Amino acid sequence: MSEEYILINGGRRLQGSVTVHGAKNAVLPLLAAAILTDEEVVIEDCPYIRDVDAMIELLVDLGARATREGRRMRVSGGVARTHASDSLCKTMRSSMFMIGALLSNIGEVEMTLPGGCNIGSRPLDIHLDGLRQMGVRTECIGDTVRCKAEKLRGADIVMRYPSVGATENLLMCASVAEGYTTLVNCAREPEIVALAKGLKLMGAKIRGEGTSVIRVEGVKKLSGATLRAGGDRIVAGTVISAAALCGGDVTVYGVDANDMQAVLQMFRSEYCDISESELGIRVRADGRIRARSVITAPYPLFPTDMQPQYFACQCFADGVSRICETVFDGRFAHAREFERMGAKISLHGNTAVIDGRECGLHAATLTASDLRGGAGLCVAAMKVEGESRVYNPHFIDRGYEDFEGAFSSLGANIVRIKK
Ligand code: EPU
Repeated sequence: MSEEYILINGGRRLQGSVTVHGAKNAVLPLLAAAILTDEEVVIEDCPYIRDVDAMIELLVDLGARATREGRRMRVSGGVARTHASDSLCKTMRSSMFMIGALLSNIGEVEMTLPGGCNIGSRPLDIHLDGLRQMGVRTECIGDTVRCKAEKLRGADIVMRYPSVGATENLLMCASVAEGYTTLVNCAREPEIVALAKGLKLMGAKIRGEGTSVIRVEGVKKLSGATLRAGGDRIVAGTVISAAALCGGDVTVYGVDANDMQAVLQMFRSEYCDISESELGIRVRADGRIRARSVITAPYPLFPTDMQPQYFACQCFADGVSRICETVFDGRFAHAREFERMGAKISLHGNTAVIDGRECGLHAATLTASDLRGGAGLCVAAMKVEGESRVYNPHFIDRGYEDFEGAFSSLGANIVRIKK
């Protein structure tokens, strides 16, 4: 546990508006895709978050040039090395994109298995199965993965599960493979669409992104372009969950409401009015929460990345609800922390049963153990009267730019204490 913590004096209504920053999970694969060409690629909307910093460090370590001009990132020069730094790979799951990016660029990659948040086992079998079908030789020794291909070949690939990262890696490889690739059972997340759009601006020939079947005609060479990530739907969802729970009147700008319908529908109730317009998503809530069960699943269903924030709200609901986590097998670390606040929770495998009635939750000292779990703890702490501390805020910094600043601007009493 680091000494730094977020201090929250909860119990305030939230009021005002925020504009969300660029989507972490779109920016990260776009940064990786930038090394598919030696020409300059510009990526707009790059947020100031730790995972983006780590990805830039990884690109530079591999020999690329990367320059930040505010939220605009310029990447050029391709890459010179095939072996990604062990320590950088271990800090972040998104180092997995280097497999697709390096194979597409120089036909070879060696890296330590990617790390990231502690939310369950995260194998790479779907990535590697697909790559093998494209002519890649793969080898896993201990925690090192080695992949090599003289030539990437187009292939017909059926993924056993719509993995976001595998769809993105295979999309990068297919873009420069010889011949045609058909990917079946693809992830359909908006971040896949953002990557495909970016690759197309670089000259790739892709059809069907956003559906379960993506077809790619490989091209010889990709070129420089300006790519854009769009707003972060999980940051938007986190703000919406806090507004629904604390009560108030909050408008979120910079995100497409179509990308988060499952989330908006779960928060809508007689206590919480959510309206959508071209301009933004407005939440007017009285701070009561309707007990409602949810199952996380791949897009367009309810995202696992919103599960802890939704869990936080259900701890205060007017009845009993069940939260079933089907995407990751270890994403309930926050449950024990909510119990420290007095929440009534029982865990049964991948399902949490929460009784929100007469719990009288109170402020507490809490410890984050992953990014979204940390955000969920802060959401709960903003609701309860009194001073809560959330330790390990570095997890939150992986995916939220100035978390405290955003919520302070809405009237929350939230500051970071650095020792
Ligand atoms: N899986 C396998 N084998 C594989 C790949 C995945 O079994 O080869 C399993 C995973 O273990 C997991 C499930 O499939 O149980 C889903 O994994 P997926 O590959 O879809 O996730 P990811 O690409 O590793 C991305 C996001 C996550 C987000 C998930 C699901 C990035 C950088 N990360 O991870 O984001 O939760 O998709 O939507 O895009 C976050 O932002 O907090 C975060 C964890």
